[in-house]
Amino acid sequence: MEKENYTIHKIVGLVLTVILIAAVTMAFVTETTRTESVAAAAKKASLQHGRQLYVDNCSNCHGSRGEGNVGSALNNSVFLKKASDSVMFATISSGRPSTVMPAWGQAYGGAFTDQEIRDIVVFIRAWEPTAPVVETAVFVPDAARGASIYESSCQVCHGENGKGGDDGKGGNLLAVNDKAQLGKFDDAWYQQTIANGRPAKGMPSWGSVLSANQTADLLALVGAWRNGETVASKTTVAQLLNSSLFSLQQNDSEDALYYLTRAQKIAFGPALGRFDPIISNIQSGQPAAALTDLTTLSSDWPVGDAANGATIYADACKSCHGAEGQGGVGRKLKPNQFVQDNVNANMFQFMLAGRVGTAMRGWDGRLSESQLADVIAFLRTWQP
Ligand code: HEC
Ligand code: HEC
Ligand code: HEC
Repeated sequence: MEKENYTIHKIVGLVLTVILIAAVTMAFVTETTRTESVAAAAKKASLQHGRQLYVDNCSNCHGSRGEGNVGSALNNSVFLKKASDSVMFATISSGRPSTVMPAWGQAYGGAFTDQEIRDIVVFIRAWEPTAPVVETAVFVPDAARGASIYESSCQVCHGENGKGGDDGKGGNLLAVNDKAQLGKFDDAWYQQTIANGRPAKGMPSWGSVLSANQTADLLALVGAWRNGETVASKTTVAQLLNSSLFSLQQNDSEDALYYLTRAQKIAFGPALGRFDPIISNIQSGQPAAALTDLTTLSSDWPVGDAANGATIYADACKSCHGAEGQGGVGRKLKPNQFVQDNVNANMFQFMLAGRVGTAMRGWDGRLSESQLADVIAFLRTWQP
């Protein structure tokens, strides 16, 4: 009997098995990539839909790049790190009661479905990798600010630096910067004494005059005195020049001179040489010439150093305005019409205050007057 030869069947069987395995594998592989690309497409659609909803409904208050305006800055790594997707979802759905932030979820009477709100969250979340740090202002008591309050409200009765002294009428001013006294009483006592005053004995009550923050600044000053520190007040050269100019315009040469010499003591930079001629014009009875020069000086002030400014810019501004001033979350600064339209004095006020509600927070307390002068000088190098 002839032996049957199965070899051919074996080979055919093997080939079919291999093809089957390959086909299944292929199907599996394409299916995963298909699922992945479906997910990516869904995410992209969600992002695009979220962007449209954001532009139409949120950008008025939060800025087209999330930089903030009436509403807080959302393109902000501090916020994005803190707010998980579900927290953000809840905030957008329910709004923020007793603020102008409306409720958007249908459950709260708003216009959007849950899916629409999820789309907006996807859009806002996509800012996270490049979002700048936007710190919100937190009040920290400051002895130097306390010293400014002291100078304007307390010094007439307690003397310079709290040291008492001659009252100019044959009597003595009561010293409050007194080691024994400062050691005897704590902050609570000082707070009460300042708030209540001793009206019957000539110490006014300040409780309804000073805000809680101003009182806290004064207590910080008292604390510094207790440590034996001498605290310079936070007056800027710009403020003193302003006061001096106002006095001169009122023909009060004596006060004009007082403010101007105080300004000169803390002034800095290339414009320093412009103080002496003005002072001598006032002293020699030529107020008209002094007025002209002081007017120019106070609009030019502060004059800084552009090379230092470049370093400060890289530390403090680049993250929002771009290394080359090309803009980002913040406006394009190279070139910039606002910078060109404003003299140094206005630029300085703008930098101190920032733009309320936007990521451009004021720099008061974070950069000094001379650092701001330097950075303004640097911005000028970018203008035609
Ligand atoms: C009429 C102005 C206004 C509109 C429109 C608006 N918001 Fe707001 N939003 C605000 C204000 C103001 C706040 C800050 C409220 C507060 O002080 O807590 C805020 C807060 C938020 C917060 C919380 C931010 C944080 O720091 O905790 C998110 C998130 C938010 N808004 C998202 C949106 C989205 C998304 C839209 C559009 C669908 C939108 N807002 C539309 C004014 C607005
Ligand atoms: C119009 C003058 C006047 C002004 C302005 C004034 N004080 Fe006084 N203050 C006095 C007199 C007078 C006393 C002493 C009252 C007494 O005899 O008990 C006093 C007492 C005090 C005491 C208690 C000192 C002690 O040894 O008992 C403190 C602290 C003090 N003042 C702080 C301040 C601060 C801070 C301000 C500014 C916010 C201020 N004073 C503004 C007149 C003034
Ligand atoms: C956290 C982000 C952020 C930082 C940091 C920042 N800015 Fe801004 N800046 C902004 C935003 C946002 C605006 C626009 C505000 C608005 O919408 O009006 C702005 C506006 C400005 C403007 C006004 C431009 C115009 O056309 O109105 C100037 C000038 C400016 N910034 C300078 C600076 C300088 C100088 C620094 C560093 C010391 C700095 N900024 C740091 C976010 C920032």
